[in-house]
Amino acid sequence: MHSMHRSIESSQGGWPEGSALDAVALQAPATEREGGFDNASSGAALRQMIGGFWISQAIYVAAELGIADLLNGGPRCVEELAAQTHAHAGALYRLLRALASVGVFHEVGESRFALTPLAEGLSSDVEGSQRAFAVVMGAEIYQAWGNLHFCVETGGEAFQKTFGMECFRYFTEHPERGRIFDAAMTGVHGGETEPMLDAYDFSRFESVADVGGGNGLTLAGILQRHPGMTGVLFELPGVAEGARELLARLGLTDRCRIVEGDFFASVPPGCDAYLMRHVIHDWDDAKAEAILSNCRRAMGPEGRVLLVEHVIASGNAPSFGKWLDLMMLVVGGRERTEEQYRRLLEGAGLRLARVVPTAAGVSVLEAVG
Ligand SMILES: C[S@@+](CC[C@H](N)C(=O)[O-])C[C@H]1O[C@@H](n2cnc3c(N)ncnc32)[C@H](O)[C@@H]1O
Repeated sequence: MHSMHRSIESSQGGWPEGSALDAVALQAPATEREGGFDNASSGAALRQMIGGFWISQAIYVAAELGIADLLNGGPRCVEELAAQTHAHAGALYRLLRALASVGVFHEVGESRFALTPLAEGLSSDVEGSQRAFAVVMGAEIYQAWGNLHFCVETGGEAFQKTFGMECFRYFTEHPERGRIFDAAMTGVHGGETEPMLDAYDFSRFESVADVGGGNGLTLAGILQRHPGMTGVLFELPGVAEGARELLARLGLTDRCRIVEGDFFASVPPGCDAYLMRHVIHDWDDAKAEAILSNCRRAMGPEGRVLLVEHVIASGNAPSFGKWLDLMMLVVGGRERTEEQYRRLLEGAGLRLARVVPTAAGVSVLEAVG
């Protein structure tokens, strides 16, 4: 990632204010039954929402084919793009024309397409790239969402029903897809690291364990901000391997230990802080409590457990967290309210000391033993 040479606006908060979804929501009457159903405004807004997967699947296919990378050097005609991606030229044209109508790509002449700022986010080498996120969402996760109805009827896990195994086992058993999943996590959550470091003071810790730390970029961000600190990256073996390479490339191996393991068994002891960003939300209460209990056992009496999550607020305001919660329903986890976190932590022998909001929409939940 250090070689990335261009930059797009990061996706802080996941669902930035003024996003397309907010715009759609705002077209519809905001309050309960205000004015009733009106085909011109509510109908249009509803149709846009109903067809939301059209756009999402079209973006996925463009991402999978790597169209944005092929346009990095300038506009290209669709026949050329089709030849390079082994696609059908006529169908590819229709895909790109539809995407250009929502600002992803731009038709600059007869069947010639160029990048737009949105399309640039689908390039592989741009900082904040959303390509891997688009690919994972459009492939495995889209298939699992096809069983959302099953989740709502039974409370069960759609991913498990679709693929016959739990999500992280699937990505372990399909390492090439696992690498895309790890990159997707950076795409969707990577923009949270700097706002987290701005909002919460890590300088009082000498050592931090990033438990379920993915490809290591979060820990790298922490260690780069705090040169006196050491870190432990704790991950499943396949993911740890990727993190080892990345942390070495960033020149951080002398301050960072990479430990492979399973956080349901134990986590490495002796760190001042145990950070888990978007880890606890992957699991139901019983499993989340088991992970938290292992962190409590591993930390010293002055230790801290730090969860970085979307804390769900009451009310009807547009919220990325409420949609991420549905995503978590599909894979067997959940987003939680502050009260639900307080109780969960208590179950693991921890006390929620404070909740620090960040500019990225997520909060840092600080817990003590
Ligand atoms: C949603 S991702 C979050 C990654 C990263 N913390 C971030 O914010 O981008 C959850 C992480 O938990 C890791 N994980 C899942 N099960 C695990 C286990 N049993 N032991 C250790 N890590 C695990 C996954 O490999 C994955 O990287």
